[in-house]
Amino acid sequence: MATDVPVPTPASTPPGDGPLASTPLASTPPAAAPPGDPRRHPMTRTLVAVGIVIMLAGVLFGYDQGVISGALDGIKKDFNVSTFLLEVITSWVTLGAMGGALVAGALADRLGRRLTILLASVLFTAGALIEAFAPGSFVLVVGRLVVGFGVGVASVAAPLYAAEMAPARLRGRFVSLYQLAITIGIFVAYLVDYVLSHSSSWRAMLGVSAVPAILLIVAMWPLSDSPRWYVKAGRRQDAERALARIQGTDDVGAEVDTIQASIDDDARSAATWGTVFAVEWRRPLMIGVMLAVLQQLTGINAIIYYANQIFAAAGFTSPDSQSLATLWAVGAVNVVATFVAVAWVDRFGRKPLLFIGTTGMGLSLVVVGAMFLKLSKVTPGSTATGATTGEGLITLVALVVFIACFAFSLGPIVWTIINEIFPSHVRGKAVAVATAANWFAAWLVAQFFLTLVDLISTTGVFWVFAAFCAVTFWFVRRYVPETKGKSLEQIQTMWGDPAALAAAMETE
Ligand code: BGC
Repeated sequence: MATDVPVPTPASTPPGDGPLASTPLASTPPAAAPPGDPRRHPMTRTLVAVGIVIMLAGVLFGYDQGVISGALDGIKKDFNVSTFLLEVITSWVTLGAMGGALVAGALADRLGRRLTILLASVLFTAGALIEAFAPGSFVLVVGRLVVGFGVGVASVAAPLYAAEMAPARLRGRFVSLYQLAITIGIFVAYLVDYVLSHSSSWRAMLGVSAVPAILLIVAMWPLSDSPRWYVKAGRRQDAERALARIQGTDDVGAEVDTIQASIDDDARSAATWGTVFAVEWRRPLMIGVMLAVLQQLTGINAIIYYANQIFAAAGFTSPDSQSLATLWAVGAVNVVATFVAVAWVDRFGRKPLLFIGTTGMGLSLVVVGAMFLKLSKVTPGSTATGATTGEGLITLVALVVFIACFAFSLGPIVWTIINEIFPSHVRGKAVAVATAANWFAAWLVAQFFLTLVDLISTTGVFWVFAAFCAVTFWFVRRYVPETKGKSLEQIQTMWGDPAALAAAMETE
């Protein structure tokens, strides 16, 4: 795995380690400002292009999370598949993504960030086409796996590339951009589902995902690799050339030296897998993995994936009304509430948002569960026959509350915490472990949601998700220190300093 991952908040970014701006759009000549001065890194064309790359990678991820919700009906009709196979078609994207994330770091180190992102986009395009033209359910599952693999690779390589291209002050913003782009991708998928819901053309719904992948290839193509990767690969001249092109000046020797020195430092303290699991870092690793898993066990993706089926069971009779409910109640609310998190996470802190969020999520799930005591069961491809009832409308409102609470708390904050709690030399591997755990848990939920509904009823499943919200609340209270406003160095030393840890536990 690569050792670098993006750092989430500008406040927690170590100073001086963000190389690289590019041809200035602004008029400030880079050479006029001293190193470290923000004017040295004005918003440039290359930074905008890197921002577009990270957004497209997030949209890709989100589109594939969201699109399946509207496609299931048509797939069930055309292929006449069992519940289990429908769950496989839904969930194996996450299995592919787990595999992709695990190899992405090694690929990005060997091939470079740029080629890895291009490879992911090509894989993704191929997967989307396999899905769109699948003659049967087996080929469709293969397509889902290939798409998932591409998403997994891009989800590690793109933020990594962005983090290495952006100056320190913009790194955090780029990570937030990524989460926002995921929610936008889900929204766009729901929109496409809605537009195509009359014809139930699931092939077009899945095939359209090739569009952001091709746009990603177009956006990535003219960009160079990161100077940091060139230096790592021993290609100093390429690094100088890339940096010169980026900064619009040939005077880059000193900066390349700085990059070289920091890479030498990293190499000296490079972590083995043993270090990642060492007692010293057990607590942050436990926090990262538990938060990643709990984020999924509270049921978010059961709702993202099976939204149409849930609304059908809640009495939204036409595919049209189901898609509309999904589009606005889940898709749009998710995007808007993510803005809230991006705006407030550094002011309010992580823990208060997590407490409010998990409480709201838990209560709304209890309500959804109670409504399903009266409503019909959520079944694959269900098209309800009844009309929208009072219970159906209350379910809709409760789901809006659930999504909003998730989107300003567990959604983005889990990723923020995962990216800031590890010391730099174990961060790459530790983040990979937490990310893989997240995808594994996502797979568990998507794979077994409908089966569980059969076993313990829709009400039972939503109440289990609610119980996990309570567990998450307890876990955050008991184990997670507040990291708002702390530098990465302060967080790192905190783990070995009981007094500092106790103080951070009390900050709420
Ligand atoms: C989660 C995804 C989820 C998305 C919804 C992310 O933070 O990791 O699994 O689909 O939020 O917005």
